[in-house]
Amino acid sequence: MQPFVLEPLSDDFARALVRAVGRKIEARSLPALVERVSRKYLGEKQALAKPDELAARALFFLPRDVHKVVAPLAELSRSGALAARPLRVLDVGAGVGASSLGALLALSALGHSVAHVRCVDEDHEALALLRKVFDALRADALIELASSALSVGAGSADGANALGAPGNSEPWDVMLVSNVLTEVLRSEDARSEAPRDEAARAERVAQLVLSLVHGAPLAEDGALVLIEPAMHADARVLQRARTIIESSGAFVFAPCTHGGACPMLVRERDWCHDDVSVDLPPWLHEVARGAGLRYQGLTYSYLTVRRSAGRVKKHDAREGWVSARMVGAVRETKGKREVFLCAEEPGPTEAREPLRAMQLDRAIKGAAETVPKLGDCARGELVALDPALLPNEGEGRTVRLGVSDWER
Ligand SMILES: C[S@@+](CC[C@H](N)C(=O)[O-])C[C@H]1O[C@@H](n2cnc3c(N)ncnc32)[C@H](O)[C@@H]1O
Repeated sequence: MQPFVLEPLSDDFARALVRAVGRKIEARSLPALVERVSRKYLGEKQALAKPDELAARALFFLPRDVHKVVAPLAELSRSGALAARPLRVLDVGAGVGASSLGALLALSALGHSVAHVRCVDEDHEALALLRKVFDALRADALIELASSALSVGAGSADGANALGAPGNSEPWDVMLVSNVLTEVLRSEDARSEAPRDEAARAERVAQLVLSLVHGAPLAEDGALVLIEPAMHADARVLQRARTIIESSGAFVFAPCTHGGACPMLVRERDWCHDDVSVDLPPWLHEVARGAGLRYQGLTYSYLTVRRSAGRVKKHDAREGWVSARMVGAVRETKGKREVFLCAEEPGPTEAREPLRAMQLDRAIKGAAETVPKLGDCARGELVALDPALLPNEGEGRTVRLGVSDWER
């Protein structure tokens, strides 16, 4: 099952964003600004004037990052794990509004209505621009959210004053924490003398997530979507945080299809992340090229946390089949395609390397359109397997896919 994606933002969005930013940025200046913001996100020191940084974030990073919450929200929706009532959305570290806008567009496309969006951040200038962005999008009928259904305010992702505006104490149905915790940890590390290792960073991430889940709080049937960059270090921290979160009274709904040990932590070189096939809109291709950034595909890592038990499954899988996630890119080798899979396996739950799924080209030669082909799949996809394919304890880690024993 391919991840649910939205179309790249249209030219109408580009015009509304330019109006919201409210100042002329020369086309030839934007790539350099984008490159410097990108370097800042990677932890490099950059002397950037605040208005320039905010303009680059609204004109480039927002249209790119808007898509990062889409597939995680679609997994919740397709599994029936989002409440049917009009949803209250809290965006923590909202910046100029990428995740809130992504959630609004995705939830509407998935048939949900949104009652309220609250955006909090410690940066009031970013929030002021966020408001302008939403006003411009509303004026051009690109979003339906009424002005009174959006609130912004100072708030911290570190749990101390997560959100706290009066009148906002009702639980939240959806919480978004997108590309924020890396920044929180980086600023904490800058203030500390001893750098933290992966385990200590994971402890802190789990603590921050749990303080939002219980403190904000998240509704009993709500979901928190945590997005981080698809970087080796950040993604492994999420994978480790998953175990801590699960042993502390919350549940990880996705990306993991099972509660066993994480196979992506066994080999130091692995990290779990998605690569979704959504490109930057054409109006940003030149900017991306000029800034040395990619314009094809979108990568990120994520965890979806809930207060109620339940895990993501391929929603239309055959009864009794096992859902599995593709945790690598599909590789073409001589006469076959291969990909790493993460799935619930029979036997003990200690950590094992990911499964290696393989499909021989000759097995599908001339096969009907409806036969699932590994070559059509991509990292991050959910598939379903006949449980008979899974190795028993002590057997090899290769799963041979045929034509009717698995489905996309
Ligand atoms: C990279 S931006 C991400 C913005 C948005 N969530 C997105 O996905 O595009 C990170 C945001 O987190 C905010 N931030 C960093 N540390 C924070 C903290 N401790 N509390 C609240 N916001 C914080 C920054 O001000 C910034 O707006």
